[in-house]
Amino acid sequence: MTSHVLAAVAWPYANGPRHIGHVSGFGVPSDVFSRYQRMMGKNVLMVSGTDEHGTAIQVQADKEGLTPRQTADKYHGVIAGDLKNLGLTYDLYTRTTTKNHATVVRELFRALHANGYIVAKTQLGAMSPSTGRTLPDRYIEGTCPHCGYDGARGDQCDNCGRQLDPIELKNPRSRINGETPLFIETEHLFLDLPALAESLGSWLETRHDWRPNVLKYSANLISELRPRPVTRDLDWGIPIPVEGWDDQPMKRIYVWFDAVVGYLSASIEWARRSGNPEAWRDWWLNPDAASYYFMGKDNITFHSVIWPAMLLGANGQGARGGTPSAFGTLRLPTEIVSSEYLTMSGSKFSTSRNTVLYVGDFLAEYGPDALRYFISVAGPESQDADFTWDEFVRRTNTELVNEWGNLVNRSISMAHKGIGAIPTPGTLTDSDATLLAASAGAFTTVGNLLERCRFKAAISESMRVVSLANKYLSEQEPWKLKDDTARRDTVLNTALQVVSDANTMLTPFLPHASQQIHEALGGTGVWAAQPDLVEVDEEGGPSYPVLTGDYTKQQARWASIPLPAGRPLAKPSPLFTKLDDTLGETGPSWAPIG
Ligand code: MF3
Ligand code: ZN
Repeated sequence: MTSHVLAAVAWPYANGPRHIGHVSGFGVPSDVFSRYQRMMGKNVLMVSGTDEHGTAIQVQADKEGLTPRQTADKYHGVIAGDLKNLGLTYDLYTRTTTKNHATVVRELFRALHANGYIVAKTQLGAMSPSTGRTLPDRYIEGTCPHCGYDGARGDQCDNCGRQLDPIELKNPRSRINGETPLFIETEHLFLDLPALAESLGSWLETRHDWRPNVLKYSANLISELRPRPVTRDLDWGIPIPVEGWDDQPMKRIYVWFDAVVGYLSASIEWARRSGNPEAWRDWWLNPDAASYYFMGKDNITFHSVIWPAMLLGANGQGARGGTPSAFGTLRLPTEIVSSEYLTMSGSKFSTSRNTVLYVGDFLAEYGPDALRYFISVAGPESQDADFTWDEFVRRTNTELVNEWGNLVNRSISMAHKGIGAIPTPGTLTDSDATLLAASAGAFTTVGNLLERCRFKAAISESMRVVSLANKYLSEQEPWKLKDDTARRDTVLNTALQVVSDANTMLTPFLPHASQQIHEALGGTGVWAAQPDLVEVDEEGGPSYPVLTGDYTKQQARWASIPLPAGRPLAKPSPLFTKLDDTLGETGPSWAPIG
């Protein structure tokens, strides 16, 4: 029985504010899952942080006339604030520029090297003829030699999923300024994937229940594993812990190697901050722990193949054997939960073309739960999905406002006005009992779906209970039962119990509204906890904001909790704001027209 659940959430780059496509990939799904698992009584550790090294940040720094460090500071703050406002319950959301992170990354790198899975090789590296700087793989674009897709990048083709070297691209060009790169010889350290291929293959074979998109990407990659460079010609990153490399100012660990280790380093940082420095082991070494990794599809191969290979090598479990790193024999991912892409009115989100909706702008206008709802019910869970204002308005108005908001409002208002408290039920009719049974039974159905990360189906199933309750109220017409208060009380009690049940099932999706409904039903205290943004430091080093929270004290449990008759009710205030229909046609003035 799984006792510990690691929710490992992809680390957003510190090169700008995040748009709603980003949080639909890694953000909302991971939080829905973690909130559900906590309600099930599991020990959840949800970690992530801002990905601050590498070229993406350096390129943005150049654009803004800042140093990479200043750029990282700026966007780490912005992103952490947005994620907090969206209500994402990270146990720790930190950053990759901490001392702790560098120490953990270097130890893993050292172990891989000592075990023989990191080897030096000379390769042809791309350089920008106009700036003399090396041009990272990701920043080169061209035609894929395998499938002919013209938007392939130097590191991988997003169309066929194959890993690439920039030199293989036909018609290579720089994505920064369009020029044709020059290829020059440079020495790098490579992760020797062929030496890990066998262990990796046997492990992947045990992962048959992964989503098809993940299996497809991984199988493609594993059929043609080659050594892969894990260092870069760059000065912004973690120094390489190998003799002869550590003191070279222009050689650094590749940002992806550094970032994926973040899951481990953040767990270690969390443990230290929580007062039990060894606590991370319960998620990383424990056979009763399961780990779920959440991301958008362009991140799949790094999580389903590269990170597992790094773990196997650091554990000493590849063809060359070896001894485990200082962290012991670390466990490989249980699940890779990858989303597809969210587009906007049919086109890709793009900062450069200004078709983008930033999380901060969106939340300021519509609040967190409307966005969380849209992403959960209409997001890119297993295929690309499109955001349109029309659909956002329709979902918000018909489903959140008319179906759910209205059910909560009219049932609590009627009971509040007529009785002032949770009414006492009399004998149940068949319709009462049928509705209560459907609602109670949904905990199993919805729970099983959430267990398998089927968020769309899970939220639809919960909303089905809401429709049943609305239908029930229309049929029973408690407002016409002024002369039969016993029956009226039974109907209202039944309706409120189902409101309470549905609220519990919707809590992972709509945590802010769930707290309000808990209070309107006369509940007190914290039902669904929210994250805190706090300032921390490392041994007197510069302070930085992190997200964290105490989620153990919240009351939300995954079960139908009987409402106590007689408990005073509060007058409900509107939960969701009805949006103007014209918004569906034009979008708000601040947003680009789709
Ligand atoms: N920063 C990367 C991106 O936005 C994701 C890094 S995930 C990690 O695509 F695992 F490497 F941290
Ligand atoms: Zn391709």
